[in-house]
This record gives sequence, structure tokens and C-alpha cells, in this order.
Amino acid sequence: MARASRTPSDLQIRPRNLRFATDIPDQRWWAGGDPIESALYNAFSATFPEGEKLFIEAVVRFRDQVPEPLKSQIVDFARQEGNHTREHLAFNAQIVRAGYDMSRIEARTLQRVTEARTRPALAQLAVTAALEHFTAILAHASLRDPRDFEGAPPEIARLWRWHAIEEIEHKAVAFDTLRAVTTDRPPFRRWLMRCLTMLLVTIGFTRSMTANVADLLRQDGFEPARLRWRALRILFVDPGLLRRVMLHYLAYYRPGFHPWDIDDRVLIGEAEASVALPAAA
Ligand SMILES: [Fe+2]
Ligand SMILES: [Fe+2]
Repeated sequence: MARASRTPSDLQIRPRNLRFATDIPDQRWWAGGDPIESALYNAFSATFPEGEKLFIEAVVRFRDQVPEPLKSQIVDFARQEGNHTREHLAFNAQIVRAGYDMSRIEARTLQRVTEARTRPALAQLAVTAALEHFTAILAHASLRDPRDFEGAPPEIARLWRWHAIEEIEHKAVAFDTLRAVTTDRPPFRRWLMRCLTMLLVTIGFTRSMTANVADLLRQDGFEPARLRWRALRILFVDPGLLRRVMLHYLAYYRPGFHPWDIDDRVLIGEAEASVALPAAA
């Protein structure tokens, strides 16, 4: 894949206003029948509605302080994230219909988002840029490996692939906004802010995801501590989602990093064909 080091001038961020049928008949463990993998994705999805609302707020408030084409990209970013929120709310309702109590996970997410809102606007933007790196590298890994979502109902696989496509497209919007509104700061201070934020976000995200997954597994009658090795195997060996994103994750700490250092738009084209998306609305 080509190296760009800045957002490609011909980048298109296309909000695809799609809706997905998220009924999962008799399939509580929809991800290939695996309780851990299903819990991982369910826990992740549970954080999206509140999390993506915060992302939109954090970026949109700087819209009038940045030049074109970033200004227009912020609008498309907000539209994409708004659509993701709507579809993941529908998906999360399906998780509840499958018998899970999501109230503790939702309360934990809301608490973290509420805490984040008390921080200065620039800090919220830096947190958003860091979390957008998370979603972009996970999206990259899942689109790159066709085994991901292979065992899922086709419509659910389509929902996650659609989300992954758009996360790749808008992966640099928060990052470029942060860069644009901090150009007056010394490069070292900007780098330090970016790295410290990523470190704190990683710790917070890992803690809350672990608690959320454990919560769901307990509801399935498992003792989460007993599944630790199996969970580590899923994350780092097979299918090894975290192993596959590790180098990509670490790149964020490199001075001079830019999300489009890796131009992975080819994955978008391949995924669009494989999920047969209708034309953009
Ligand atoms: Fe999203
Ligand atoms: Fe995003």
C-alpha cells in the first residue's frame, strides 16, 4: 500500500446512509458461535453511540477554525458517525433482545464520556484523534482479513464492514483538525500531547473493554477469569485481532506520524464489492 504522510488530495469521504436488518434469530453468540468473540464485538458496539456522539462534538466545534477541504470533511465525518450511531443503536437493541442486560456497560460508557466532556475542548479533540486511530486500525485489520465476520450472519457482517469502510475514509479528520488548531505550538509539545493522550486512552479503553466483556460473559454463565487464556488466544493468535494491529497502533507514537502514512483505500474498494453496498445516498 502506498505511503502518503498527509491526507490524499483526492480523498472522498462518502456518508453511505444505509440501514441494516440486525435481527439475529436464535444466535446469541452471533460471531461464529463463539461467546468471547461475540462479547468483544458486543462490548465494542455498546460504546459506539455515546462515544461517537462525543467524537462528533469534539471535532465539529472546531469546524470554523480550519481551512477547506478539512472544513467539508468534518461535515462528512459527522454524517458518517451519526449514521454509525443510529445503526449501532439498532444493533445494540438486538443484543438486548438476545437476552443481555446492557445497563451497566451503558452506564460505564456514559460515565467515561461525561468525564471526557469536563476536559478542555483541545483535550477532547486529542482523545478523539487517538480513538479514531483505534477504530481505523481495527477497521483496516478486519477488512484485510476475510476471516473476520465469516461466521456472522451476512447482514451483521455487512454492518461491521460498512462501519470499517467509513472509519478508514475519515481516519484523519480528527487528527488533521488537531494539527490545524495547534500549529502555533512547538512540534515537541504537540507530539508529547498526542502520545500522552494515546497512552491514557489506551489504558482507559483496555480497562473498560475488559470490564464490559467480563460483564457479558458472566451473563452467559462463564467465570471470565477462567476464559483469560482463550481470550488472549483470540486476541493475539487466532484470529489475532490485536496482534495484527500492534505495529499499526505503535506508529501513532512516532514523531511525524500521519494516519495516511498508510494509504489503505484499496481495502475500501474490495470491501465495498464484497458487501455489495448500494450507491451512496
Ligand atoms: Fe464510526
Ligand atoms: Fe470514526
